[in-house]
Amino acid sequence: MIDQVTVNQILDTADIVDVVSDFVSLRKRGTNWVGLCPFHNDRTPSFYVSRAKGICKCFSCGEGGSAVNFIMKHEQMTYVEALKYLAAKYHIEVKERELTDEERTAQTERESMLVLNEWAAQFFENQLWNTTEGQEVGLTYFRHRGFTDATIRRFRLGYSPDIRNALYQAAITQGYSRDLLLKLGLCKDDTRGGAFDFYRGRVMFPIFNVAGKVIAFGGRTLKKDDKAKYFNSPDSLVYNKSMSTMYGLYQAKRAIAKHDKCFIVEGYADVISMHQAGFENVIASSGTALTEGHIHLLHRFTQNVTELFDGDAAGIHAALRGIDMLLREGLNIKVLLLPDGEDPDSYAQGHSSSEVEQYIAEHEQDFIRFKTGILLRDCGSDPIRRAQAIDDVVKSIAVIPMEITRSVYAQECAAMFGIQESVLLREIQKHIRKNKDEEHKRRERERERQQRLNDSLPQSPAPPNGDAGTAPQQPASGEASQPPQPAHGGEGTTATAQPVLRRTPATPLRSAAQQERDVIRYVTKFGMCYLCDTDYEDQQQAPTTVLEYIHSELEIDQIHFTVPIYKKIFTLSLAMVPVFYDDLAACQQEMQAWSDREFRDRLNRLNPTGLTSEELQKKEEEIRASVIEQSQRRIDEFRQNYLEKRLCSHHDDDVREVTCDLVSDKHQLSKIYTQNAYVATEFDRLLSLVPKAIHNWKNTLVAEQIKELQKQMAGKPSDESAELLRRLQELFRVRSELAKLIGDRVVNPK
Ligand code: CTP
Ligand code: MN
Repeated sequence: MIDQVTVNQILDTADIVDVVSDFVSLRKRGTNWVGLCPFHNDRTPSFYVSRAKGICKCFSCGEGGSAVNFIMKHEQMTYVEALKYLAAKYHIEVKERELTDEERTAQTERESMLVLNEWAAQFFENQLWNTTEGQEVGLTYFRHRGFTDATIRRFRLGYSPDIRNALYQAAITQGYSRDLLLKLGLCKDDTRGGAFDFYRGRVMFPIFNVAGKVIAFGGRTLKKDDKAKYFNSPDSLVYNKSMSTMYGLYQAKRAIAKHDKCFIVEGYADVISMHQAGFENVIASSGTALTEGHIHLLHRFTQNVTELFDGDAAGIHAALRGIDMLLREGLNIKVLLLPDGEDPDSYAQGHSSSEVEQYIAEHEQDFIRFKTGILLRDCGSDPIRRAQAIDDVVKSIAVIPMEITRSVYAQECAAMFGIQESVLLREIQKHIRKNKDEEHKRRERERERQQRLNDSLPQSPAPPNGDAGTAPQQPASGEASQPPQPAHGGEGTTATAQPVLRRTPATPLRSAAQQERDVIRYVTKFGMCYLCDTDYEDQQQAPTTVLEYIHSELEIDQIHFTVPIYKKIFTLSLAMVPVFYDDLAACQQEMQAWSDREFRDRLNRLNPTGLTSEELQKKEEEIRASVIEQSQRRIDEFRQNYLEKRLCSHHDDDVREVTCDLVSDKHQLSKIYTQNAYVATEFDRLLSLVPKAIHNWKNTLVAEQIKELQKQMAGKPSDESAELLRRLQELFRVRSELAKLIGDRVVNPK
C-alpha cells in the first residue's frame, strides 16, 4: 500500500537509537547503546542498540531487529502500521491509496479498535470545545479545577454529552461497528439491537499507550451523588489495565528519562495538575495497585521512583502496600507524604512550583527508612510487635538486588531499631537465601521451558569466525595435497602406505544447511562489500562484491541453496544489485563532492606562515590522504549496511526475522580489542573467510555425494560399479582440491 520509494525513505531516515529511545531509556556504552529489554523481565541492561547497523537486539531473550521490527513487536503493529508510525515520527509523507471495502474489513480488529478510540477521543474533544453543553458543563468544570486550555488540549480531555446515544449515533453514521463500540466499552447494549452511551454527562480522560495511541478512557461524573466517581474502559484487545500503561506515561516519558526520575501519584487529576505546575515526570497508577507489568514498563525509563501519598492513614497504608515489588525490581523507591488533607492535585494547584520543589526536597524519604519509622511508631514498646516489625523490614531489605544498597539500609535500620547491625545482616542473609532458592527453582522451570522451545526450532549458532566448519586440528601428515586412494571395500582391505586420518566422532561434519547458513550470513552482512578484482576473459579486471563472488562460485558448480528462506534471501539480494550500483554511484558522487569541499576547507584553515614550501606540500599530502581515507570509510559503511538494512526491514516476515538473526550476533555488534591490539574484524578478513565458507559448503556436498556413491557401490559386482568408481575418483579429486583451498587435512573416510 505504501510505494517503495517512500518505504526506502522511511528506512533510510529512521534512526534506531531515536526510535528505541521513545520506549526504553538508553545509555551509551562503547559504540552501542544499552538499556533494559522491553520484551522480557530484564533487571540488568541486555538490550543493545547499534546505530551504525540500525538494529537492536536483546542478548538475553533474543528479541530485536530493525527499527521496523522493533515497532512491530513493541507496539503490536503490522508491518505497514509500523512504517506509518515511523513515517509520522519523521514527518515523511506517506502516499497511499484509499482502502477498498474489502481491505477495510480485513484490517485487524486491534487496528480498528485503535482507530475507533481515536475517533471517540476526537468526538469528546469536539463536544468539549465546540458545543454549548460541552463548554458550559465540561469546559467550565475543567477551568474551575484550574486546568489551563493548553493543559486540557495536551491531555486531550473531552466531554461526553448527557444524551442517551449521541456518540453511538455519530459512530454508526460514520460506519463504525456496533460490535466494536460495545467491546471498547464506549457504548452498552440496550438489548433492543441498539446501544446507549456509557459515559453520558461525564468529563473524559483519554488513556494513551506509550506510543500515544488512545487505548482506553476514564470518565468522571460531575454529579455529587453518583455512586461511581469514575467509569473506566473494560479490558480489551488494546487495553490491559494491569499491563498496558500508566496514566500520563506518554506525556511524561521524555521528562522521566531526562530527570532519570519518576513520581507516581494516584489519580488523573494529580498527574495533570503536577504537569501543569511544571513537574512533567509524573504518572498515575489510576487508583489500582501497581503490578509487575507496570513496574517493568516504568523501569525501562528510570530506576528512581518516588511515590506521592496523602498524609492520612489511608495514604500511609497505601504506601506500605506492594512496595517490595518495586524494591525487588531494583528500583530506588522513595516516598513523599503530603500534608494531611492534601493530594498532589490540590497541593500543586495551591502552591508555587518552587514551593512544591522545596517540599519534595525536604520530605522525600527512602522507603526503608519510611517503613521503619512507621512500624516503629505503631508498635510502641510491645516486644512481640517490635520483633514482627523488624522481620517485616528485613524482608523488604532482603529483596533489594544491590548489595551496597542493602548494607546501607541495614545500617540505618539497625540504628533506628537500636539493635546490632550484625544480627540484622544475618537475618537478611537468611531471607536472601530463601529468596534465591525460590528464584532458582523458578529459573529452572523457565530454562526447561526455553529448552523445549529451542528443541523445536532447528538452527545452528553462527560461528564467531568462518573457521568452525573446518575439520578439527589433526597431526600433520605430509601427504595432505596428494589425491588419496579411494578406500572402498571392493579394493581389498590391505592397508595402504598412506596413513589414514580419522575424524573423531565427536566432531561431525557440519551439515549442508549449516554451511548454507554461514554463506548466506556473509551475503546479508557483507554482500555489497568489495571483495576482490576478478579477471575476465577479455582481459578486463572488475571489482567484485562478496555477493557477486558467491553467486559466481555457486553458478560454476550449479549449487543452490536448499533452505527455502536462504534461497529467498539470496534471490532478493541478487535482485537488488542493479539498484545498488545506481545508489553506490550516487553515494560516491556525494562523497567526491564532500572530499573536494573538505580538502579545500582544511587547506584554507592551514596556517602557512613559517612553513617552507616543502613542508607545506607535505601537509597538503597528509590532508589529501586523510580526506580520501575518511571518504573511503564512509563508502565502505554504505556498502556494508546496504543489504542488511533492506533485508532487516523487508516486508516479508521470515526474511526480516532470519536476516536480523543472522546479522546480529554479539560478536559482531562490538569490535573486539585485546589490551591495545586491534583484533581483525570479519570485515577485514573477508577475502579469506568468504571463499572458505564456500569451500566448506562444497566440501560438505562432496562428502555427502561420496557417501551416497559408496552406499550404491556396496552391493554391486565390480563390472557394474566401474562407472560409479570413476565418479567416485573424480569426487575424491575434487575433494582434495577443495582441501588445498581450505587448507585442511584430507581425511579418508573409513
Ligand atoms: N478511580 C477509579 N474509579 C473510582 C475512583 C477512582 O477508577 N470510582 C481511579 C481513577 O483513576 C482516579 C484514581 O483512582 O484518578 C484516584 O482516585 P481519586 O483520588 O478519587 O480521583 P482523582 O483523580 O483525584 O479525581 P478528583 O480529584 O477529580 O476527585
Ligand atoms: Mn483528586
